[in-house]
Amino acid sequence: MTENNNNELNKEVKRRRTFAIISHPDAGKTTITEQLLLFGGAIREAGTVKAKKSGKFAKSDWMEIEKQRGISVTSSVMQFDYDDKRINILDTPGHEDFSEDTYRTLMAVDAAVMVVDSAKGIEEQTKKLFKVCRMRGIPIFTFMNKLDRDGREPLELIEELEEVLEIDAYPMNWPIGSGKTLLGLYDLYHNRIEAFRPEESNKGERFISLNSEGEIEGEHKIKKESLYKQVLEEALLLKEAGNEFSEEAIAAGKLTPVFFGSALNNFGVQTFLEIFLQFAPEPSSHETRGGEIVQPAEPTFSGFIFKIQANMDPRHRDRIAFLRICSGKFVKGMDVTLSRSGKKIRLSNSTQFMAESREIVTDAVAGDIVGLYDTGNFQIGDTIYEGNDKIEYQELPQFTPELFMKVEPKNVMKQKSFHKGINQLVQEGAIQLYKSYHTESYIIGAVGQLQFEVFEHRMRNEYNSEVIMSSIGNRIARWVKPEQLDENMGSSRNMLVRDRFDQPLFLFENRFAMRWFSDKYPEVELTSLL
Ligand code: G4P
Repeated sequence: MTENNNNELNKEVKRRRTFAIISHPDAGKTTITEQLLLFGGAIREAGTVKAKKSGKFAKSDWMEIEKQRGISVTSSVMQFDYDDKRINILDTPGHEDFSEDTYRTLMAVDAAVMVVDSAKGIEEQTKKLFKVCRMRGIPIFTFMNKLDRDGREPLELIEELEEVLEIDAYPMNWPIGSGKTLLGLYDLYHNRIEAFRPEESNKGERFISLNSEGEIEGEHKIKKESLYKQVLEEALLLKEAGNEFSEEAIAAGKLTPVFFGSALNNFGVQTFLEIFLQFAPEPSSHETRGGEIVQPAEPTFSGFIFKIQANMDPRHRDRIAFLRICSGKFVKGMDVTLSRSGKKIRLSNSTQFMAESREIVTDAVAGDIVGLYDTGNFQIGDTIYEGNDKIEYQELPQFTPELFMKVEPKNVMKQKSFHKGINQLVQEGAIQLYKSYHTESYIIGAVGQLQFEVFEHRMRNEYNSEVIMSSIGNRIARWVKPEQLDENMGSSRNMLVRDRFDQPLFLFENRFAMRWFSDKYPEVELTSLL
C-alpha cells in the first residue's frame, strides 16, 4: 500500500464512530435512533424504523420466524454521515428477541448509549447490557428520555444510576421543569438554555446563552424566569458538589455523561449527538490471542464475526455473518484466510447495512460492519485476515444462560441428524448445551426465548430433525470446581449438569435455593460466566 493510500485509510478510520444503543424495551431506543437517522439524512421521515420493526416492510423471503417477529436485518446496522463523521449504530434487540447475539453485538462496538425512561429509571435489561459494556470498559453515554412526561426527580434518577450501576455520572444538562411544565434544559456544557417549545416563548429562539455567572445574557422575555433561576442555582450547585468532568474517566467507562431530553419531541437529541460525537472514541485497537495489538489503521485487513443471522431465505441455506472490521480496508472479492481452519475464502458476496435497504459494500474500513453471505464457513468469534501473517482475535466471552429446556428427538430413529444438528448449532454459538449428570439427557440453555425458537426452526429445516422441548424454566446457572463437587449435592431445586467442556454446574431454581446451598456448603465456590 502506498503512503498516500495509507493516509487516506487513516483519515477514513478516524472518522468512524461505532456504537450500540442499549435500553430496556419501551424506553425509546427506536425513537431516538430514528431521530439520529433523520439528522444524518439516512431516512426522510420518522416512523421508518418503527414500520420495519412492526414488519410492515418485511420482504417476503425472510426466514419465517423473522417475519413473524418483524426482526429486520437491515436495521441491525445503520450507517449515516453527520458533520465529518461516519456513524454506525448497531441494534441490540430486546424483549423476546433478546439473545446471546444481543450481548455479542456489544463486543463489536466502541461505545454505548444507554437510553433510560425517566419515569422508570434503571430497568432490568439495561442492567444486563450495562454489565457487558462495563466488562469491556467502553465509554457509556446516558440519555434520560421522556422528559415531556411527569417523571422522577432528576437528582433521584442520577442517584439511582450511580448506585445501581456503580458508575459515576456527570449531568451535561439539567431539566427546567418536567412533564407539562417542562420549559427547557440548562445546558451546563455549553452554558446556555435550550428551550423546549421556543415558539411559545423566547421569541422563537431555541438557545439562550448565559454569561459566566450563569445569568441570561441580553434581553430575553422568558416565561417563569424565577424557575429558570432556581434551576440554574441547583445545577451550579450540582456542578460544584458532583463528580468532576474527566475525558479520561469517560473514555474508560468510569464516568457516564448524562443528557436529559425527549426523543419523541426531538428535544435535546441533537445536542446529545453533537457532544457524543465529540467524546465518542474512534475505532479501537484489538488484541490477538498471542497478545499482539492490531491498530485499526494498519493496512492489512482483518476482522471478527460477532453474529450470524441464519436462513434469511428458507429456500436457501445461506446466512449472513456480521463482521466487525478491526484493521485495514474491505475490498469486494478480496481473498482472506479463516484463522480457525486456515481455509482461504474469497469475499465476493458482501453487504452493508443501511436503514432503508441492503446495499453492496463500496467502502468499508476498520470500525465498519459488513455482512458476509455465508454457506456454513463461519462460526461466531472467527477471525479472518488478509495476507500471510496469521491474526486471531481473542475468543468472544460466553454469557450465563438464564432459560433452560430439556430437548430430545421426536423420532428416536433419527438420533444421528439430531446429534449432528445440535452439535453444529452449539458450535456456531446459537445455543448452549448441557447434559444432566446421571441420565445424560440433553438440556439447552439460552439468554432469550428467541434462541429456542431459532434452534427448533433450524433443527427442523436444516437438519431435518423434529425436536421435543420441555421447559425447565428460569434457572440461575453457577459453575463449581470439580474437586469441590459431591454428586449428592444435586437435587431438583439445584439440578446438577455438565457443560460441553465437561465442567459441572448447578441450575438453581431461584436465589433462595442458591442461598440455601451456599449456607449448607459454604466451602463450595459458585461462579458464573458474564
Ligand atoms: P424501544 O425501541 O426502546 O422499545 O422504544 P420506542 O422507541 O419504540 O418507544 C416506546 C414508546 O415510547 C413509543 O410509544 C414512543 O412513541 C414513546 N416515546 C419515545 N420517546 C418518547 C418521549 O420522549 N416522550 C414520550 N412521551 N414518549 C416517548 P408507543 O405508544 O409504544 O408507540 P407509538 O404507537 O407511539 O409508535
